[in-house]
Amino acid sequence: MHLLLPLCVLWLLPLAWTLEEDSPLDCVPRRSFPYHRDNAHLFHEEGVFNYSTMLLREDLDLLLLGAREAVYALDLKDISKKLASVKWEVTQQQKNECKNKGKDLETECKNYIRILHQTEDNRMYVCGTNAFDPECDYMSYANGKLTLEKKGEDGKGKCPFDPFHRYASIMVENNLYTATSINFLGSEPVLMRSSPISIRTEFKSSWLNEPNFVSMTQMPEGYMSEEGDDDKVYLFFSETAVECDCYNKMVVSRVARVCKGDLGGQRTLQKKWTSFLKARMDCPVLESQLPYIIQDTYRFCDPQQDWRDCLFYAIFTPQSDKSDLSAVCAYRVSDISRVFAEGKYKTPVPVETSFVKWVMYSGDVPVPRPGACIDNAARKANITKTLDLPDRTLQFIKDRPLMDQAIQPIGNKPLLVRRGARFTRIIVNQVQAADGEKYRVMFIGTEEGTMLKAVNYDGEMFIIEEVHLFQTPEPIKILTFSNLTGQIYAGSDYGAAQIPLATCGRSLSCMDCVLARDPYCGWDKDVRKCVFLSNSPRGLIQSVKKGDASLCPEAGPPFCFQIL
Ligand SMILES: *[C@@H]1O[C@H](CO)[C@@H](O)[C@H](O)[C@H]1NC(C)=O
Ligand SMILES: *[C@@H]1O[C@H](CO)[C@@H](O)[C@H](O)[C@H]1NC(C)=O
Ligand SMILES: *[C@@H]1O[C@H](CO)[C@@H](O)[C@H](O)[C@H]1NC(C)=O
Repeated sequence: MHLLLPLCVLWLLPLAWTLEEDSPLDCVPRRSFPYHRDNAHLFHEEGVFNYSTMLLREDLDLLLLGAREAVYALDLKDISKKLASVKWEVTQQQKNECKNKGKDLETECKNYIRILHQTEDNRMYVCGTNAFDPECDYMSYANGKLTLEKKGEDGKGKCPFDPFHRYASIMVENNLYTATSINFLGSEPVLMRSSPISIRTEFKSSWLNEPNFVSMTQMPEGYMSEEGDDDKVYLFFSETAVECDCYNKMVVSRVARVCKGDLGGQRTLQKKWTSFLKARMDCPVLESQLPYIIQDTYRFCDPQQDWRDCLFYAIFTPQSDKSDLSAVCAYRVSDISRVFAEGKYKTPVPVETSFVKWVMYSGDVPVPRPGACIDNAARKANITKTLDLPDRTLQFIKDRPLMDQAIQPIGNKPLLVRRGARFTRIIVNQVQAADGEKYRVMFIGTEEGTMLKAVNYDGEMFIIEEVHLFQTPEPIKILTFSNLTGQIYAGSDYGAAQIPLATCGRSLSCMDCVLARDPYCGWDKDVRKCVFLSNSPRGLIQSVKKGDASLCPEAGPPFCFQIL
């Protein structure tokens, strides 16, 4: 690892310099709540583990929860109530075959549910690792029962073989997009769409290089687009950098995107994406020399605004074990979209005999633009689908899927940095506080099973609270939010937990309520309680930006604040 440092540090210096000198590198929660039964509604089934896949069915008032060898239908309002379940176990023969291939009988040779999506006919599509032989099936919920149809569809390329591998998936208009490895050895990573026609990425290290897939999301960029653009699917992952002049491996974070209408090329890139473009994503943390690695993302869109105003919130953790910092950076979708639509490409140039250097491509770029979706300009030239794209365009993108420019976060620095248990998952919710302003609150799961609630008030990082969800410190493996119930759902190996956006009643005095600086909570003078904002018609005492407790009627002398 030491050899690579001198060169890579140089490569990263411009980033580190963009940070302000006085940026705090640690943010401590104002208060911390140890495990308590009442912290959350909990679900756990005796002898069942790995509750790491979730599907909200708000239409049915259900939370579908995928675990090892089982799927549960839980009451969305209180997940401790199990309404139905279905087992999906591997057969003895499958177990034996798995064991004969050298896998562990008790861990790897089981069926871990990894994919749970709603289909357009209101059934569900489910995939499991199935003892290193991934399989998919349809599932329905009717008359209080969950039923698997036992279709036995091949799950290769949709679901990982290895339950310890990270993967990503999304269902868009009944088409399944997945990012995982397509073979037993885990050596052939793909971003794939299974239908209407199956297309995937090339097996080339310039496309995907030992990737670790993180998440996927879609953006309606074709909606009322003046250019006649197409909707996109975004993929977040980390991978070994091909472009770094390092003697050793260096991992970087990436965002890639494809166009929904992509059908592949006619001769070049047959049944492969013609629109796969990727770029590096940076989240500069002052202390670090190696880039931080992306771990999870959350797409935040204000329903009243255009897609261009959507943001991606992303969690990053260090590449080396020596640091225990985690960070959150936020990115504008429009910034990412612009790099793909207008940015320069990187191109490989051979130097010496066996070494390739990646530099900015400054030659002529073919038309239509390589990697672009089919738009009005292309249609005008009689190119109405990707199958019509000329070989020049396709060959260009086949060799150069990487953009030259890296994506920088808003403000060129993290929204939150914290030392301690590593961040694992994030969701973001927006609330209009008593001052009329809208605030975005980050809910962050950690490796120790805690949930952090954090905000960034005009540049000030503030962690409102930390809550221990589980009795034993288990990493949070999944987080979901239901707009219908206003509840957050978290899954770990041990179980699932449900918490509200705020538990204002934990603050017993006005001072504590105001100093908590929780935009969901305010002090109601009349009932003398800390209450949820939207539940109260009266004006509440709240001071989220300043935490000014002198607004409280019974506020004592200032030194009292320090004690809290
Ligand atoms: C499943 O849960 C068990 C028990 O907590 C844990 O030891 C194991 O690592 C988990 N497996 C996966 C694939 O996450
Ligand atoms: C497009 O196709 C139509 C019919 O096939 C043809 O008449 C027209 O000349 C073509 N236009 C261009 C720009 O190639
Ligand atoms: C969430 O629900 C509220 C009403 O309950 C609605 O006004 C709002 O638009 C919803 N937000 C999203 C993102 O669907």
